Amino acid sequence: MTQTLLLEAEGVSKGFPGVKALDDVRFDLRHGEVLALVGENGAGKSTLMKLLAGIYTPDAGTFRLNGRELKVTGPRDAQEQGISIIHQEFNLMPDLTVAQNIFIGREPRASGFFLSDTALNRKAQALFDELGLALDPAEPVERLTVARQQMVEIAKALSFDAKVLIMDEPTAALNDAEVDVLFELIGRFRTPERGVVYISHRMPELERISDRITVLRDGRYVGTVETAATDQREVISMMVGRKIAGETRPRQLPADAQTVLEVEGLSTKHLLRDVSFQVRRGEIFGFAGLMGAGRTEVARAIVGADRRTAGTIRLHGAPVEIANPAAAARLGIGYLSEDRKLLGCLLERSVRENIALSSLSGDFSRAGFVRDRRIEQVGQEYIAKLRIKTPSSAQLVRNLSGGNQQKVVIARWLVKDCDILIFDEPTRGIDVGAKEEIYTLLRELADAGKAIVMISSELPEVLRLSDRIAVMAEGRLTAVLDNADATQENLMEYATRFSAEGTVA
Ligand SMILES: Nc1ncnc2c1ncn2[C@@H]1O[C@H](COP(=O)(O)OP(=O)(O)OP(=O)(O)O)[C@@H](O)[C@H]1O
Ligand SMILES: [Mg+2]
Repeated sequence: MTQTLLLEAEGVSKGFPGVKALDDVRFDLRHGEVLALVGENGAGKSTLMKLLAGIYTPDAGTFRLNGRELKVTGPRDAQEQGISIIHQEFNLMPDLTVAQNIFIGREPRASGFFLSDTALNRKAQALFDELGLALDPAEPVERLTVARQQMVEIAKALSFDAKVLIMDEPTAALNDAEVDVLFELIGRFRTPERGVVYISHRMPELERISDRITVLRDGRYVGTVETAATDQREVISMMVGRKIAGETRPRQLPADAQTVLEVEGLSTKHLLRDVSFQVRRGEIFGFAGLMGAGRTEVARAIVGADRRTAGTIRLHGAPVEIANPAAAARLGIGYLSEDRKLLGCLLERSVRENIALSSLSGDFSRAGFVRDRRIEQVGQEYIAKLRIKTPSSAQLVRNLSGGNQQKVVIARWLVKDCDILIFDEPTRGIDVGAKEEIYTLLRELADAGKAIVMISSELPEVLRLSDRIAVMAEGRLTAVLDNADATQENLMEYATRFSAEGTVA
């Protein structure tokens, strides 16, 4: 007996100028299933899903929903036919409230008037209660953390009566507890008449959440495997089709390594309390902690993005006052923020300009030709080093895949001549192969004498890369450990230092 499938795709192709994003791709989704869709940055995952969601039109191929051909004329039509998508890039309006964002464009039109905010809030609250989400309907979205914005996106998608729910890297900005909440939501969504397509670069998640895994590489279908019958190694080798760069290892710095950045007694109004640490030349200094522990706040307070209420920052021994991130950059402190939207890419400029321009600021007066050649040279160098997938260095950043945009931003800071680089979640949304390449580059930079501060929510990443590891909990520093003394277990212990009793241990 052949059972009908919930969703089928066959012979799907899509090209953009200079790029064949998808070439004769197929996949199928069974009823009640979570299908993981994986592949390197630029493999075509988001494009495939955007075809389903009516954002792009396929050049060729067919989709079938419950055995019947599915043609969508646009995003709204897709939604009405039961396809809901949570995008990789957030699509929320920052100055609207949570409730307004969820019901935007869906006020009952037949009745001819708009719902009042009170009514919207009530509807949103009912939805959150049903989903078990702790969100405030009346809160403006711009005041939410990235993780909570993600929750709003999810609530919004689930508020439609979807048959197929597409999630494009839903956990990129979530911590472990939030991932648990999300997986529970997915579990409740997954009934025999519905299904989920789940895109993620976090390999360990696939095992937990997916039934099968479909792999794309360079816009082509590679294969589909049962999750229970495979392992990470097999999936990764299907994804990359090449050997992944070598292992970087943490080091023990010489005792006399010169201190470059010294933070003493740093406090901010809301969160940080008396945070002190030193970062040395040649060192990768990792920050571990739960979301909300204050790691991002430390970075922001150092570069002047947030005001500090107490504390001293010394650069090479001399106290400095830093007004804002631009001033920090002039003093040689580069800061890559965790917020994807504020990454500071100029979307309408070329890849090479984004990579090279800010590092050439001193050369602006130079003759155009010399400068252009330099931009091209630096651009090409980093496109190769980070394997940025782009048809040319002149491609607009807007047209790159999410992970490749992220690589451009990283390249930009790597090129810039900073003594200190503060990277907040540098590998979020980056595929497994490219992660290794970024680790290698960070190590090379440290070896070349830079001081690197790296914040990461992925403990294995912190442990892999950091020479020393600072752990934060509830705005305080609870430990600074040499890599040799750190384990996942003791890092977690320091990360949850206060929460049990709510007092200082
Ligand atoms: N609007 C566009 N114009 C031109 N090229 C595009 C456009 N959208 C996507 N592409 C290209 O199509 C290819 C596939 O991109 P896609 O966003 O689907 O990748 P992805 O698998 O989602 O990657 P990531 O893991 O980085 O999100 C990439 O080479 C990308 O540069
Ligand atoms: Mg994508």
